[in-house]
Amino acid sequence: MKRLFWITITGALLMSTLTASGARAKSASTTKSPWGKTPDGEQVDLYTLTNKNGVEAAITTYGGAVVSLKVPDRNGKLGDVVLGFDSVDGYVEGKSYFGAIIGRYGNRIGHAQFTLDGKTYTLAKNNVENSLHGGTKGFNKMVWKAKEIPAKDGQALELTYLSKDGEEGFPGNLKVRVVYTLTDSNELKIEYSATTDKKTVVNLTNHSYFNLAGVGPGMGDILGHMLMIEADKFTPVDSGLIPTGELRDVAGTPFDFRQPTAIGARINSDEEQIKLGGGYDHNFVLRRKPGDPISLAARVEEPKTGRVMEVWTTEPGVQFYTGNFLDGSAHGKGGVAYTKRSAFCLETQHFPDSPNQPKFPSVVLNPGERYHTTTIYKFSTGK
Ligand code: BGC
Repeated sequence: MKRLFWITITGALLMSTLTASGARAKSASTTKSPWGKTPDGEQVDLYTLTNKNGVEAAITTYGGAVVSLKVPDRNGKLGDVVLGFDSVDGYVEGKSYFGAIIGRYGNRIGHAQFTLDGKTYTLAKNNVENSLHGGTKGFNKMVWKAKEIPAKDGQALELTYLSKDGEEGFPGNLKVRVVYTLTDSNELKIEYSATTDKKTVVNLTNHSYFNLAGVGPGMGDILGHMLMIEADKFTPVDSGLIPTGELRDVAGTPFDFRQPTAIGARINSDEEQIKLGGGYDHNFVLRRKPGDPISLAARVEEPKTGRVMEVWTTEPGVQFYTGNFLDGSAHGKGGVAYTKRSAFCLETQHFPDSPNQPKFPSVVLNPGERYHTTTIYKFSTGK
């Protein structure tokens, strides 16, 4: 009995270290290393999650940011596909939210205020007249508590943060938990949950900037990436990028990505919404299949490397942003200047300005309820 047990275990281990082609794969692991300090002297760590295929995700406790994500191209060559910095200082100084967890409210709240039960809450105007991505010091600038946790399908890291009642003007002590799992199917799964002790609003997302051709010296733009978004409608915006409240058909507009289309194909059109966004910086209303626990939101394929990324989510919307405000002033990993259109974001979310838009799906969280959403970035290769 005992012997049979050991043979089985050894067999399983051997199998798991051999890939389909017979090549020896790296074994899955999670490592933790110190990654510097904040200006206040708080310790920051970097966790590196590696799956059984050698795919690797590095995540820092500063802002819970995904610092690097190495996935294979069609020849099996690993390449880093997210913008980021070599050290914590870049994240402390950064203004572009590279890879970070965004909260308490992802994207904009118009006029930086909202009302709940007759009480008006005033937030910092950190984006002209509006509030953007949680305010002056959002979740992206906090040091999160981290813990490796067991996962049956890969390597998992739990991050937690308590956002105190009144922080950045939001009501309620909000206990936030984000679990990143790098699965053995080459997915980066992000599960967000939160509870509150006072009625509040919540909209959490991740702000990774992707370039599937690979980031680093000599990197190009993302205009040739082929994008499909599962959306028949989008939310047009005003000049401050606040939704007007309309849900507009994508048909006949540069926002029609129902069939795979190059990101750059219509990005310079003189259509009014493209001009207002300086490119794409819009929320798409996702088709959700009734009864599906999680739905495909978008698929992106990079023709040269064959890398494919699918985005799956439980959320009703996705912000498609083409790095319009990147101006080359941020120097990222390897000293590379991140220029306009060098990456794109697909931020799964509730719609921007929902606290002020009664027709949009609600972002209100009550005491006794649990906010819970899941988003998966799944990597593979195409033709
Ligand atoms: C917003 C952009 C903003 C970017 C970085 C996106 O989610 O929609 O307008 O510039 O984040 O801050």
